[in-house]
Amino acid sequence: MPVVCVVGAQWGDEGKGKVVDLYAQYADVVVRYGGGANAGHTLVVGGEKVVLHLVPSGALQPRAQCVIGQGTVLDPKVLLDEIDELERRDLAPERVFVSDRAHVVLPHHKLIDGLREADAGAGAIGTTKRGIGPCYEDKVARRGIRIGDLVDAKTLGERVRANIEAWRPVIAALGGEVPDVDAIVQLYAEYGGRLRPFITDTAKLLWDAMKDGKNVLLEGAQGAMLDVDHGTYPYVTSSTVLAGGACAGAGLGPTAIDRVVGITKAYTTRVGGGPFPTELHGEDGERLRKAGNEFGATTGRPRRCGWLDIPALRFAVQINGMSELAVTKLDILAGLGDISICTHYEGRDGTRYDTPPYDGLEDLTPVYEKLPGWTEDLTKCETIDDLPDNARSYIRRIEELADAKVGMVSVGADRTQTLRLRDPFG
Ligand code: GDP
Ligand code: IMO
Ligand code: MG
Repeated sequence: MPVVCVVGAQWGDEGKGKVVDLYAQYADVVVRYGGGANAGHTLVVGGEKVVLHLVPSGALQPRAQCVIGQGTVLDPKVLLDEIDELERRDLAPERVFVSDRAHVVLPHHKLIDGLREADAGAGAIGTTKRGIGPCYEDKVARRGIRIGDLVDAKTLGERVRANIEAWRPVIAALGGEVPDVDAIVQLYAEYGGRLRPFITDTAKLLWDAMKDGKNVLLEGAQGAMLDVDHGTYPYVTSSTVLAGGACAGAGLGPTAIDRVVGITKAYTTRVGGGPFPTELHGEDGERLRKAGNEFGATTGRPRRCGWLDIPALRFAVQINGMSELAVTKLDILAGLGDISICTHYEGRDGTRYDTPPYDGLEDLTPVYEKLPGWTEDLTKCETIDDLPDNARSYIRRIEELADAKVGMVSVGADRTQTLRLRDPFG
């Protein structure tokens, strides 16, 4: 089992960081394959919290190589800050390897992202304003700047100039100020100089690792319902976040992936705009937000909260080919009374939907089943058998409805608060 992929099964923030950190103790290489600093992956070790945006969540395990693949979009400043942080913590930053083919987020990407959101008013997507959309647009338009370009001062200037020219009318129409090309080129050449020792052909690194029988862990960002193809379009991110995206984004073939683990919270959250059928409004939503401390790890925005959405989860299982699920934040449901679980949606004409349709999700009604809750604190549980009967029944019901086994249960943010953790490569 040398290659395992961890992906988000909802709208992001499912607790992927925690699971990847735990799995990374068994891994030789951990790879981020998509997205950028829109991701915020939280790790809690010995009571201390660390949030990583670009460097893989294997960074706090001493051994794993941390690879950032070509499917990502990188803000060099954020990356260098995280590398510096590893250095400060004596965590061997030379374990970080950055793909020469990954794309570079430029200052105007962030500017345009912000201006567009402001311009869209109530129709805004609610992006993280990290420049992700415009950077991926440049990649697909074949005018992007890649990490490898940063170390070639001659071509960097020409490429950045051409890129800014392409955006000039857009920036002007949005009322923004076109940035100074020379200043950007100078700054990004400096970043390139500092990143140079970390830049490599990461697909080759992975190929060699796999040939040597090393354990490779692929770390997804975001979640299935934010996927550019399968998510709640246009309220999605701009990349393929699914396990399938790991092939192109890390540089390995589909036959190389042995196992896909989907991470889901025991309930649902979403940051930003877009449909969310099981959202709880008012006091009920507030109760869940407070209990789960649901505020974004990247932007600090309050997360929208609601009951577990099985149609979305079932869909995520299918389109990712998940071998199993890990359920996080089960501890948060304690003391909330009966627990509702959305088994399917219904259209106005009574049509039943077992997975989300391509459009019109906001017009569907979630149909709930009620399950008895529990009041016991789960955070000290050490095995599945320590869980109250009702919590165990809830997990069993998720397995039946989503058609996937639950391999791991998380009952607290700390590494240690994890039930049924096994070597994923075993
Ligand atoms: P990611 O983006 O999927 O890595 O998730 P985030 O880090 O953005 O958000 C998950 C949040 O839940 C973080 O604050 C974690 O520390 C926290 N967390 C993860 N698992 C658990 C759990 O089982 N219980 C509790 N109470 N918190 C958890
Ligand atoms: P992790 O990896 C939660 C959401 C944004 C917005 C939409 C588009 O921590 O789970 P973008 O900035 O990507 O153009 O924003 O996607 N979004 C996330 N929500 N967790 C994330 O990452 C997210 N990354 C993007 O809130 O709705
Ligand atoms: Mg997050």
